[in-house]
Amino acid sequence: MSDAELYERAVAAAERAYAPYSNYLVGAAALMRDGTVLEGVNVENAAYPLGACAERTALSGAVVAGYRPGDVEAVAITASPCGGCRQWLYEFKVDRVVYPSGGALVARTPAELLPDTWDEL
Ligand code: THU
Repeated sequence: MSDAELYERAVAAAERAYAPYSNYLVGAAALMRDGTVLEGVNVENAAYPLGACAERTALSGAVVAGYRPGDVEAVAITASPCGGCRQWLYEFKVDRVVYPSGGALVARTPAELLPDTWDEL
């Protein structure tokens, strides 16, 4: 699957986001190395800080499905990933993070998105 196709999966998923507070619908699509695609959406809460970003729900779903860090080839997102999600993407050893920037899709490594990352393991 191409990065553009993965991104289209993220765009489609965004329609299912639960974001009644910000009205900012975000979708993510995570491509596993075995070819499986798992989607995520942002899920907000009346207690605002408890909301979950689309990237994190996608990666959480991957763990629930049995995948581990290292099993995820790429994650496409309909928004530029926030700082916290960049740490998550780094933890999962994703090869490519795909998102729109400057009117085009870009693919970055987690290390490019979060240099000198703190890493406990
Ligand atoms: N959001 C994401 O889902 N991913 C990001 O990386 C950026 C922010 C969501 C969180 C919140 O539900 C909404 O966008 C507005 O910040």
